[in-house]
Amino acid sequence: MPSVLQRLFAVRSVDSIVGDLEKGPPMNRVLTARSLTAIGLGSTIGTGIFILTGTVAANHAGPALTLALLIAAIGSGLAAICYAEFAAMIPVSGSAYTYSYATLGEAVAWIIGWNLSLEYMMSASAVAVGWSEYMVNLLGEWGIEFPAALINAPFGKTDGGTLGLTGAIVNLPAVLIILALGWVCYVGVRESSTANTIMVIVKVAIIIVFVLAGLAFVDTSNWVPFIPENTGKFGEFGWTGVLQGAGIIFFSYIGFDAASTTAREARNPQRDVPLGILGALVISAVLYIAMAAVMTGMVPYPQLDAPAPVAVALDAHRELAWLGTLVKIGAIVGMTSVILMSLLGQPRILLAMAGDGLLPKVVSRIHPRHRTPHVATIWTTLLAALIAGLLPLDVLGELISIGILLAFTVVCIGVLVLRYSRPDLHRPFRVPAAPITSVRGAQVCGGMTNIQPHDTRWRMGIRTLLGFSIYALYGYRHSRLRTEADDSRTPSPAP
Ligand code: ALA
Repeated sequence: MPSVLQRLFAVRSVDSIVGDLEKGPPMNRVLTARSLTAIGLGSTIGTGIFILTGTVAANHAGPALTLALLIAAIGSGLAAICYAEFAAMIPVSGSAYTYSYATLGEAVAWIIGWNLSLEYMMSASAVAVGWSEYMVNLLGEWGIEFPAALINAPFGKTDGGTLGLTGAIVNLPAVLIILALGWVCYVGVRESSTANTIMVIVKVAIIIVFVLAGLAFVDTSNWVPFIPENTGKFGEFGWTGVLQGAGIIFFSYIGFDAASTTAREARNPQRDVPLGILGALVISAVLYIAMAAVMTGMVPYPQLDAPAPVAVALDAHRELAWLGTLVKIGAIVGMTSVILMSLLGQPRILLAMAGDGLLPKVVSRIHPRHRTPHVATIWTTLLAALIAGLLPLDVLGELISIGILLAFTVVCIGVLVLRYSRPDLHRPFRVPAAPITSVRGAQVCGGMTNIQPHDTRWRMGIRTLLGFSIYALYGYRHSRLRTEADDSRTPSPAP
Protein backbone atom coordinates (compact mmCIF):
# COMPACT_ATOMS: atom_id res chain seq x y z
CA MET A 1 0.00 0.00 0.00
CA PRO A 2 1.34 3.46 -0.84
CA SER A 3 1.86 5.78 2.11
CA VAL A 4 -0.21 8.95 2.58
CA LEU A 5 2.78 11.00 1.45
CA GLN A 6 3.18 8.94 -1.72
CA ARG A 7 -0.52 9.46 -2.41
CA LEU A 8 -0.34 13.20 -1.86
CA PHE A 9 2.56 13.57 -4.26
CA ALA A 10 1.40 11.04 -6.84
CA VAL A 11 1.66 12.51 -10.34
CA ARG A 12 -0.52 11.83 -13.35
CA SER A 13 1.50 10.87 -16.38
CA VAL A 14 1.37 13.25 -19.32
CA ASP A 15 0.47 10.30 -21.57
CA SER A 16 -2.64 9.48 -19.52
CA ILE A 17 -3.71 13.16 -19.40
CA VAL A 18 -3.38 13.49 -23.16
CA GLY A 19 -4.93 10.03 -23.66
CA ASP A 20 -8.04 11.13 -21.72
CA LEU A 21 -8.68 13.79 -24.35
CA GLU A 22 -9.78 11.13 -26.79
CA LYS A 23 -12.08 9.46 -24.27
CA GLY A 24 -13.87 12.53 -22.91
CA PRO A 25 -17.00 14.10 -24.46
CA PRO A 26 -16.06 16.26 -27.44
CA MET A 27 -15.86 20.02 -27.19
CA ASN A 28 -16.10 22.46 -30.06
CA ARG A 29 -12.66 22.77 -31.69
CA VAL A 30 -13.18 26.19 -33.24
CA LEU A 31 -10.47 28.44 -31.81
CA THR A 32 -7.62 29.69 -34.01
CA ALA A 33 -4.35 31.47 -33.14
CA ARG A 34 -6.10 34.80 -33.67
CA SER A 35 -9.08 33.99 -31.47
CA LEU A 36 -6.79 32.55 -28.79
CA THR A 37 -4.73 35.76 -28.77
CA ALA A 38 -8.02 37.68 -28.53
CA ILE A 39 -9.06 35.49 -25.57
CA GLY A 40 -5.77 36.38 -23.86
CA LEU A 41 -6.21 40.10 -24.63
CA GLY A 42 -9.87 39.91 -23.70
CA SER A 43 -9.12 38.73 -20.20
CA THR A 44 -6.05 40.92 -19.75
CA ILE A 45 -6.79 44.54 -20.72
CA GLY A 46 -9.28 46.01 -18.24
CA THR A 47 -9.35 47.39 -14.72
CA GLY A 48 -5.56 47.42 -14.33
CA ILE A 49 -4.77 49.85 -17.12
CA PHE A 50 -7.94 51.94 -16.81
CA ILE A 51 -7.98 52.26 -12.98
CA LEU A 52 -4.83 51.03 -11.19
CA THR A 53 -2.28 52.94 -13.28
CA GLY A 54 -3.36 56.21 -11.62
CA THR A 55 -2.78 54.90 -8.08
CA VAL A 56 0.61 53.43 -8.99
CA ALA A 57 1.85 56.62 -10.70
CA ALA A 58 0.57 58.97 -8.01
CA ASN A 59 1.53 56.96 -4.92
CA HIS A 60 4.40 54.64 -5.81
CA ALA A 61 6.34 55.14 -9.02
CA GLY A 62 5.60 58.56 -10.58
CA PRO A 63 6.49 58.65 -14.31
CA ALA A 64 8.39 55.38 -13.71
CA LEU A 65 4.94 53.75 -13.94
CA THR A 66 6.25 52.66 -17.34
CA LEU A 67 9.19 50.93 -15.66
CA ALA A 68 6.86 49.24 -13.14
CA LEU A 69 4.78 47.98 -16.07
CA LEU A 70 7.94 46.72 -17.78
CA ILE A 71 9.11 44.84 -14.66
CA ALA A 72 5.66 43.25 -14.22
CA ALA A 73 5.71 42.34 -17.93
CA ILE A 74 9.09 40.62 -17.55
CA GLY A 75 7.81 38.53 -14.59
CA SER A 76 4.64 37.64 -16.47
CA GLY A 77 6.63 37.04 -19.67
CA LEU A 78 8.92 34.47 -18.04
CA ALA A 79 5.84 32.67 -16.71
CA ALA A 80 4.13 32.99 -20.11
CA ILE A 81 7.02 31.24 -21.85
CA CYS A 82 6.79 28.37 -19.34
CA TYR A 83 3.01 28.23 -19.81
CA ALA A 84 3.57 28.00 -23.55
CA GLU A 85 5.77 24.89 -23.22
CA PHE A 86 3.17 23.16 -21.05
CA ALA A 87 0.19 24.24 -23.13
CA ALA A 88 1.73 22.89 -26.34
CA MET A 89 2.67 19.61 -24.68
CA ILE A 90 -0.52 19.09 -22.62
CA PRO A 91 -3.34 20.81 -24.52
CA VAL A 92 -6.11 20.32 -21.94
CA SER A 93 -8.41 22.72 -20.13
CA GLY A 94 -6.91 22.60 -16.64
CA SER A 95 -4.07 25.09 -17.24
CA ALA A 96 -1.64 25.39 -14.29
CA TYR A 97 -3.70 22.84 -12.34
CA THR A 98 -3.02 20.07 -14.88
CA TYR A 99 0.60 21.10 -15.36
CA SER A 100 1.24 20.79 -11.61
CA TYR A 101 -0.56 17.44 -11.49
CA ALA A 102 1.85 16.15 -14.10
CA THR A 103 4.92 17.45 -12.30
CA LEU A 104 4.59 18.20 -8.59
CA GLY A 105 1.81 15.81 -7.57
CA GLU A 106 -1.83 15.77 -6.60
CA ALA A 107 -1.72 17.87 -3.42
CA VAL A 108 0.11 20.75 -5.10
CA ALA A 109 -2.20 20.45 -8.11
CA TRP A 110 -5.24 20.65 -5.88
CA ILE A 111 -3.98 23.80 -4.15
CA ILE A 112 -3.15 25.44 -7.47
CA GLY A 113 -6.49 24.42 -9.01
CA TRP A 114 -8.42 25.59 -5.96
CA ASN A 115 -6.68 28.96 -5.77
CA LEU A 116 -6.60 29.53 -9.52
CA SER A 117 -10.31 28.85 -9.95
CA LEU A 118 -11.12 31.15 -7.02
CA GLU A 119 -8.91 33.85 -8.59
CA TYR A 120 -10.73 33.61 -11.90
CA MET A 121 -14.10 33.83 -10.18
CA MET A 122 -13.12 36.72 -7.93
CA SER A 123 -11.48 38.46 -10.85
CA ALA A 124 -14.84 38.34 -12.65
CA SER A 125 -16.55 39.75 -9.55
CA ALA A 126 -13.95 42.49 -8.96
CA VAL A 127 -13.97 43.65 -12.55
CA ALA A 128 -17.80 43.60 -12.54
CA VAL A 129 -17.74 46.02 -9.60
CA GLY A 130 -15.36 48.33 -11.55
CA TRP A 131 -17.63 47.93 -14.60
CA SER A 132 -20.62 48.98 -12.51
CA GLU A 133 -18.80 52.16 -11.35
CA TYR A 134 -17.89 53.18 -14.91
CA MET A 135 -21.35 52.32 -16.26
CA VAL A 136 -23.24 54.23 -13.55
CA ASN A 137 -20.91 57.20 -14.12
CA LEU A 138 -21.43 57.15 -17.90
CA LEU A 139 -25.21 56.81 -17.60
CA GLY A 140 -25.15 59.65 -15.03
CA GLU A 141 -23.52 61.87 -17.67
CA TRP A 142 -26.50 61.11 -19.89
CA GLY A 143 -28.96 62.01 -17.09
CA ILE A 144 -29.83 58.45 -16.03
CA GLU A 145 -29.55 58.06 -12.24
CA PHE A 146 -30.01 55.03 -9.96
CA PRO A 147 -30.79 54.80 -6.21
CA ALA A 148 -27.52 54.50 -4.24
CA ALA A 149 -28.84 51.41 -2.41
CA LEU A 150 -28.96 49.48 -5.69
CA ILE A 151 -25.53 50.38 -7.08
CA ASN A 152 -23.34 49.77 -4.02
CA ALA A 153 -22.21 46.76 -2.02
CA PRO A 154 -23.99 46.15 1.31
CA PHE A 155 -20.61 45.27 2.89
CA GLY A 156 -17.58 47.56 3.02
CA LYS A 157 -14.27 47.92 4.80
CA THR A 158 -14.53 49.80 8.11
CA ASP A 159 -11.73 52.06 9.38
CA GLY A 160 -10.51 49.17 11.50
CA GLY A 161 -10.10 47.05 8.36
CA THR A 162 -12.98 44.64 9.15
CA LEU A 163 -16.17 44.22 7.13
CA GLY A 164 -19.16 46.36 8.11
CA LEU A 165 -22.62 47.18 6.72
CA THR A 166 -22.88 50.17 4.35
CA GLY A 167 -26.66 50.52 4.29
CA ALA A 168 -26.85 49.64 0.58
CA ILE A 169 -28.79 46.57 -0.60
CA VAL A 170 -26.92 45.18 -3.59
CA ASN A 171 -24.65 46.23 -6.47
CA LEU A 172 -27.28 45.39 -9.07
CA PRO A 173 -25.40 46.39 -12.27
CA ALA A 174 -22.47 44.16 -11.22
CA VAL A 175 -24.85 41.22 -10.67
CA LEU A 176 -26.66 41.76 -13.96
CA ILE A 177 -23.51 41.97 -16.11
CA ILE A 178 -22.21 38.70 -14.62
CA LEU A 179 -25.51 36.91 -15.20
CA ALA A 180 -25.67 38.14 -18.80
CA LEU A 181 -22.09 37.12 -19.59
CA GLY A 182 -22.47 33.81 -17.75
CA TRP A 183 -25.32 33.05 -20.13
CA VAL A 184 -23.04 33.75 -23.13
CA CYS A 185 -20.48 31.29 -21.70
CA TYR A 186 -23.24 28.71 -21.19
CA VAL A 187 -24.41 28.98 -24.78
CA GLY A 188 -21.08 28.31 -26.41
CA VAL A 189 -17.40 28.91 -26.78
CA ARG A 190 -17.86 30.17 -30.35
CA GLU A 191 -20.36 32.81 -29.19
CA SER A 192 -18.14 33.80 -26.27
CA SER A 193 -15.09 33.99 -28.50
CA THR A 194 -16.86 36.07 -31.17
CA ALA A 195 -18.24 38.51 -28.60
CA ASN A 196 -14.79 38.73 -27.06
CA THR A 197 -13.00 39.36 -30.35
CA ILE A 198 -15.33 42.28 -31.14
CA MET A 199 -14.75 43.79 -27.69
CA VAL A 200 -10.98 43.35 -27.98
CA ILE A 201 -10.96 45.21 -31.31
CA VAL A 202 -12.93 48.08 -29.75
CA LYS A 203 -10.78 48.44 -26.63
CA VAL A 204 -7.46 48.10 -28.46
CA ALA A 205 -8.60 50.67 -31.04
CA ILE A 206 -9.59 53.12 -28.29
CA ILE A 207 -6.23 52.70 -26.54
CA ILE A 208 -4.39 53.33 -29.83
CA VAL A 209 -6.51 56.45 -30.52
CA PHE A 210 -5.76 57.70 -26.98
CA VAL A 211 -2.01 57.18 -27.46
CA LEU A 212 -1.91 58.85 -30.88
CA ALA A 213 -4.12 61.79 -29.88
CA GLY A 214 -2.40 62.26 -26.51
CA LEU A 215 1.12 62.18 -27.96
CA ALA A 216 0.78 65.76 -29.21
CA PHE A 217 -0.01 66.95 -25.65
CA VAL A 218 2.93 65.26 -23.92
CA ASP A 219 5.10 67.71 -22.01
CA THR A 220 8.39 65.90 -21.41
CA SER A 221 9.06 67.98 -18.28
CA ASN A 222 6.31 65.87 -16.64
CA TRP A 223 8.66 62.87 -16.95
CA VAL A 224 11.32 64.54 -14.80
CA PRO A 225 12.35 63.25 -12.33
CA PHE A 226 11.61 59.87 -13.85
CA ILE A 227 11.81 58.09 -10.47
CA PRO A 228 10.75 60.61 -7.80
CA GLU A 229 12.81 60.57 -4.61
CA ASN A 230 11.71 58.12 -1.93
CA THR A 231 9.76 59.78 0.89
CA GLY A 232 11.50 57.71 3.54
CA LYS A 233 8.77 55.07 3.57
CA PHE A 234 9.15 51.70 1.82
CA GLY A 235 7.17 51.70 -1.40
CA GLU A 236 6.61 55.46 -1.61
CA PHE A 237 8.65 56.40 -4.68
CA GLY A 238 12.33 55.66 -5.23
CA TRP A 239 13.26 52.12 -6.30
CA THR A 240 11.11 50.48 -3.60
CA GLY A 241 8.15 52.44 -4.98
CA VAL A 242 8.84 51.16 -8.49
CA LEU A 243 9.03 47.57 -7.22
CA GLN A 244 5.88 47.83 -5.12
CA GLY A 245 4.20 49.54 -8.07
CA ALA A 246 5.21 46.55 -10.23
CA GLY A 247 3.61 44.21 -7.64
CA ILE A 248 0.33 46.17 -7.77
CA ILE A 249 0.24 46.77 -11.52
CA PHE A 250 0.94 43.06 -12.07
CA PHE A 251 -2.86 42.77 -11.79
CA SER A 252 -3.13 44.29 -15.25
CA TYR A 253 -1.32 41.31 -16.85
CA ILE A 254 -3.49 38.68 -15.16
CA GLY A 255 -5.44 36.86 -17.81
CA PHE A 256 -2.90 36.24 -20.59
CA ASP A 257 -2.99 32.58 -19.57
CA ALA A 258 -6.74 32.30 -20.27
CA ALA A 259 -5.98 30.85 -23.69
CA SER A 260 -4.47 27.80 -21.98
CA THR A 261 -7.84 26.95 -20.36
CA THR A 262 -9.48 26.68 -23.78
CA ALA A 263 -6.81 24.41 -25.29
CA ARG A 264 -9.36 21.59 -25.71
CA GLU A 265 -11.37 23.89 -27.93
CA ALA A 266 -8.45 24.94 -30.15
CA ARG A 267 -8.10 23.64 -33.71
CA ASN A 268 -4.34 23.27 -33.52
CA PRO A 269 -3.52 23.62 -29.81
CA GLN A 270 0.15 22.63 -30.08
CA ARG A 271 0.93 25.60 -32.26
CA ASP A 272 -1.82 28.10 -31.54
CA VAL A 273 -2.10 28.08 -27.74
CA PRO A 274 1.56 29.14 -27.22
CA LEU A 275 1.04 31.79 -29.91
CA GLY A 276 -2.10 33.02 -28.17
CA ILE A 277 -0.46 33.19 -24.74
CA LEU A 278 2.71 34.96 -25.88
CA GLY A 279 0.90 37.17 -28.39
CA ALA A 280 -1.55 38.43 -25.77
CA LEU A 281 1.22 39.24 -23.32
CA VAL A 282 3.45 41.08 -25.79
CA ILE A 283 0.59 43.11 -27.29
CA SER A 284 -0.82 44.11 -23.90
CA ALA A 285 2.64 45.07 -22.56
CA VAL A 286 3.31 47.32 -25.56
CA LEU A 287 -0.12 48.97 -25.31
CA TYR A 288 0.17 49.46 -21.53
CA ILE A 289 3.64 51.01 -21.65
CA ALA A 290 2.68 53.35 -24.51
CA MET A 291 -0.50 54.39 -22.71
CA ALA A 292 1.32 54.94 -19.39
CA ALA A 293 4.06 57.01 -21.05
CA VAL A 294 1.49 59.27 -22.73
CA MET A 295 -0.67 59.56 -19.61
CA THR A 296 2.22 60.55 -17.33
CA GLY A 297 3.44 62.98 -20.01
CA MET A 298 0.07 64.72 -20.34
CA VAL A 299 -0.31 65.76 -16.67
CA PRO A 300 1.98 65.91 -13.60
CA TYR A 301 1.78 62.43 -12.02
CA PRO A 302 0.28 63.50 -8.62
CA GLN A 303 -2.89 64.50 -10.48
CA LEU A 304 -3.47 60.92 -11.63
CA ASP A 305 -4.64 59.75 -8.18
CA ALA A 306 -8.26 59.33 -9.29
CA PRO A 307 -10.68 56.47 -10.05
CA ALA A 308 -10.50 57.30 -13.77
CA PRO A 309 -6.89 58.48 -14.38
CA VAL A 310 -7.22 58.38 -18.17
CA ALA A 311 -10.14 60.82 -17.95
CA VAL A 312 -8.01 63.10 -15.74
CA ALA A 313 -5.28 63.22 -18.41
CA LEU A 314 -7.87 64.05 -21.07
CA ASP A 315 -9.69 66.66 -18.97
CA ALA A 316 -6.44 68.59 -18.64
CA HIS A 317 -6.52 69.32 -22.41
CA ARG A 318 -9.76 70.81 -23.66
CA GLU A 319 -8.92 69.93 -27.25
CA LEU A 320 -9.27 66.27 -26.26
CA ALA A 321 -12.73 66.55 -24.66
CA TRP A 322 -14.22 64.49 -27.52
CA LEU A 323 -12.14 61.51 -26.46
CA GLY A 324 -13.49 61.43 -22.87
CA THR A 325 -16.70 59.52 -23.54
CA LEU A 326 -14.93 57.25 -26.02
CA VAL A 327 -12.36 56.25 -23.42
CA LYS A 328 -15.09 55.53 -20.87
CA ILE A 329 -16.79 53.30 -23.42
CA GLY A 330 -13.39 51.65 -24.08
CA ALA A 331 -12.97 51.00 -20.36
CA ILE A 332 -16.47 49.50 -20.07
CA VAL A 333 -15.95 47.31 -23.13
CA GLY A 334 -12.51 46.32 -21.83
CA MET A 335 -13.89 45.26 -18.49
CA THR A 336 -16.79 43.41 -20.12
CA SER A 337 -14.41 41.16 -21.99
CA VAL A 338 -12.31 40.55 -18.86
CA ILE A 339 -15.45 39.38 -17.02
CA LEU A 340 -16.50 37.22 -19.96
CA MET A 341 -13.12 35.53 -20.26
CA SER A 342 -12.81 34.98 -16.50
CA LEU A 343 -16.23 33.31 -16.50
CA LEU A 344 -15.07 31.20 -19.44
CA GLY A 345 -11.80 30.15 -17.76
CA GLN A 346 -12.92 29.07 -14.32
CA PRO A 347 -15.43 26.34 -15.28
CA ARG A 348 -12.76 24.77 -17.50
CA ILE A 349 -10.38 24.41 -14.57
CA LEU A 350 -13.22 22.90 -12.48
CA LEU A 351 -13.98 20.60 -15.42
CA ALA A 352 -10.43 19.27 -15.38
CA MET A 353 -10.48 18.83 -11.60
CA ALA A 354 -13.81 16.98 -11.67
CA GLY A 355 -12.55 14.82 -14.54
CA ASP A 356 -9.70 13.74 -12.27
CA GLY A 357 -12.19 12.86 -9.52
CA LEU A 358 -11.11 15.70 -7.21
CA LEU A 359 -14.55 17.33 -7.48
CA PRO A 360 -17.98 15.65 -7.89
CA LYS A 361 -18.54 14.12 -11.31
CA VAL A 362 -21.55 16.33 -12.04
CA VAL A 363 -19.18 19.32 -12.40
CA SER A 364 -17.49 17.68 -15.39
CA ARG A 365 -20.71 17.40 -17.43
CA ILE A 366 -20.59 18.79 -20.98
CA HIS A 367 -23.82 20.16 -22.44
CA PRO A 368 -24.94 17.77 -25.22
CA ARG A 369 -25.87 20.58 -27.62
CA HIS A 370 -23.72 23.58 -26.62
CA ARG A 371 -20.69 21.40 -25.78
CA THR A 372 -19.79 23.66 -22.87
CA PRO A 373 -19.14 22.68 -19.24
CA HIS A 374 -22.60 23.98 -18.36
CA VAL A 375 -22.90 22.80 -14.75
CA ALA A 376 -19.54 24.35 -13.79
CA THR A 377 -20.51 27.49 -15.74
CA ILE A 378 -23.81 27.87 -13.86
CA TRP A 379 -22.15 27.50 -10.45
CA THR A 380 -19.32 29.88 -11.34
CA THR A 381 -21.74 32.49 -12.64
CA LEU A 382 -24.05 32.35 -9.63
CA LEU A 383 -21.22 32.53 -7.12
CA ALA A 384 -19.42 35.33 -8.99
CA ALA A 385 -22.70 37.30 -9.20
CA LEU A 386 -23.31 36.86 -5.48
CA ILE A 387 -19.81 38.05 -4.56
CA ALA A 388 -19.98 41.00 -6.99
CA GLY A 389 -23.34 42.04 -5.55
CA LEU A 390 -22.14 42.01 -1.95
CA LEU A 391 -18.47 43.08 -1.76
CA PRO A 392 -16.64 46.28 -2.78
CA LEU A 393 -13.69 46.49 -5.20
CA ASP A 394 -10.90 47.07 -2.65
CA VAL A 395 -11.75 43.94 -0.65
CA LEU A 396 -11.95 41.84 -3.83
CA GLY A 397 -8.85 43.34 -5.48
CA GLU A 398 -6.63 42.39 -2.55
CA LEU A 399 -7.66 38.76 -2.77
CA ILE A 400 -6.71 38.19 -6.37
CA SER A 401 -3.07 38.67 -7.42
CA ILE A 402 -1.39 36.43 -4.86
CA GLY A 403 -3.07 33.19 -6.00
CA ILE A 404 -2.17 33.84 -9.62
CA LEU A 405 1.44 34.63 -8.70
CA LEU A 406 1.59 31.33 -6.84
CA ALA A 407 0.28 29.48 -9.91
CA PHE A 408 2.88 31.22 -12.13
CA THR A 409 5.68 30.24 -9.71
CA VAL A 410 4.59 26.61 -9.75
CA VAL A 411 4.35 26.56 -13.56
CA CYS A 412 7.93 27.91 -13.84
CA ILE A 413 9.23 25.23 -11.45
CA GLY A 414 7.09 22.54 -13.12
CA VAL A 415 8.67 23.07 -16.54
CA LEU A 416 12.06 22.32 -15.10
CA VAL A 417 10.82 19.28 -13.15
CA LEU A 418 9.29 17.75 -16.27
CA ARG A 419 12.41 18.46 -18.33
CA TYR A 420 14.34 16.24 -15.90
CA SER A 421 11.67 13.62 -15.16
CA ARG A 422 10.41 13.20 -18.75
CA PRO A 423 13.06 14.46 -21.17
CA ASP A 424 11.60 12.11 -23.82
CA LEU A 425 8.24 13.93 -24.18
CA HIS A 426 7.50 15.67 -27.45
CA ARG A 427 7.64 19.43 -26.82
CA PRO A 428 6.25 21.41 -29.78
CA PHE A 429 7.39 24.60 -28.00
CA ARG A 430 10.48 24.71 -25.77
CA VAL A 431 11.37 27.38 -23.22
CA PRO A 432 14.63 28.92 -24.48
CA ALA A 433 17.50 28.58 -21.97
CA ALA A 434 15.09 26.62 -19.76
CA PRO A 435 16.96 26.42 -16.45
CA ILE A 436 17.73 30.14 -16.34
CA THR A 437 14.37 31.28 -17.73
CA SER A 438 12.24 29.15 -15.45
CA VAL A 439 14.31 29.74 -12.30
CA ARG A 440 14.22 33.52 -12.93
CA GLY A 441 10.47 33.28 -13.61
CA ALA A 442 9.90 31.46 -10.31
CA GLN A 443 12.09 34.00 -8.49
CA VAL A 444 10.34 37.06 -9.92
CA CYS A 445 6.78 35.70 -9.46
CA GLY A 446 7.55 34.16 -6.05
CA GLY A 447 9.27 37.42 -5.03
CA MET A 448 6.19 39.43 -5.99
CA THR A 449 4.03 37.36 -3.60
CA ASN A 450 6.33 38.64 -0.86
CA ILE A 451 5.61 42.29 -1.53
CA GLN A 452 1.85 41.76 -1.30
CA PRO A 453 0.24 43.22 1.87
CA HIS A 454 0.35 41.09 5.03
CA ASP A 455 -3.42 40.53 5.35
CA THR A 456 -3.50 39.26 1.77
CA ARG A 457 -1.04 36.54 2.70
CA TRP A 458 -3.10 35.70 5.77
CA ARG A 459 -6.26 35.37 3.74
CA MET A 460 -4.38 33.22 1.26
CA GLY A 461 -3.39 30.91 4.13
CA ILE A 462 -6.98 30.61 5.35
CA ARG A 463 -8.24 29.91 1.84
CA THR A 464 -5.59 27.26 1.31
CA LEU A 465 -6.55 25.61 4.59
CA LEU A 466 -10.21 25.59 3.55
CA GLY A 467 -9.20 24.11 0.19
CA PHE A 468 -7.18 21.39 1.87
CA SER A 469 -10.13 20.47 4.09
CA ILE A 470 -12.31 19.95 1.01
CA TYR A 471 -9.54 17.89 -0.56
CA ALA A 472 -9.20 15.75 2.58
CA LEU A 473 -12.95 15.18 2.78
CA TYR A 474 -13.62 14.55 -0.92
CA GLY A 475 -10.78 14.73 -3.46
CA TYR A 476 -8.29 12.56 -1.61
CA ARG A 477 -10.76 9.69 -1.48
CA HIS A 478 -12.30 10.05 -4.93
CA SER A 479 -9.18 10.88 -6.95
CA ARG A 480 -9.24 8.84 -10.16
CA LEU A 481 -5.54 8.24 -9.82
CA ARG A 482 -6.32 6.39 -6.59
CA THR A 483 -9.57 4.66 -7.47
CA GLU A 484 -8.16 3.35 -10.76
CA ALA A 485 -5.01 2.13 -9.05
CA ASP A 486 -7.11 0.41 -6.37
CA ASP A 487 -9.32 -1.16 -9.03
CA SER A 488 -6.40 -2.63 -10.88
CA ARG A 489 -4.84 -3.57 -7.51
CA THR A 490 -1.53 -2.05 -8.46
CA PRO A 491 0.61 -1.32 -5.42
CA SER A 492 1.60 2.26 -6.36
CA PRO A 493 -0.71 4.91 -7.79
CA ALA A 494 2.20 6.87 -9.20
CA PRO A 495 2.89 6.10 -12.84
N1 ALA B 1 -5.88 42.01 -16.09
C1 ALA B 1 -7.25 42.18 -15.77
C2 ALA B 1 -7.59 43.60 -15.57
O1 ALA B 1 -6.72 44.42 -15.55
C3 ALA B 1 -7.65 41.34 -14.59
O2 ALA B 1 -8.76 43.89 -15.42
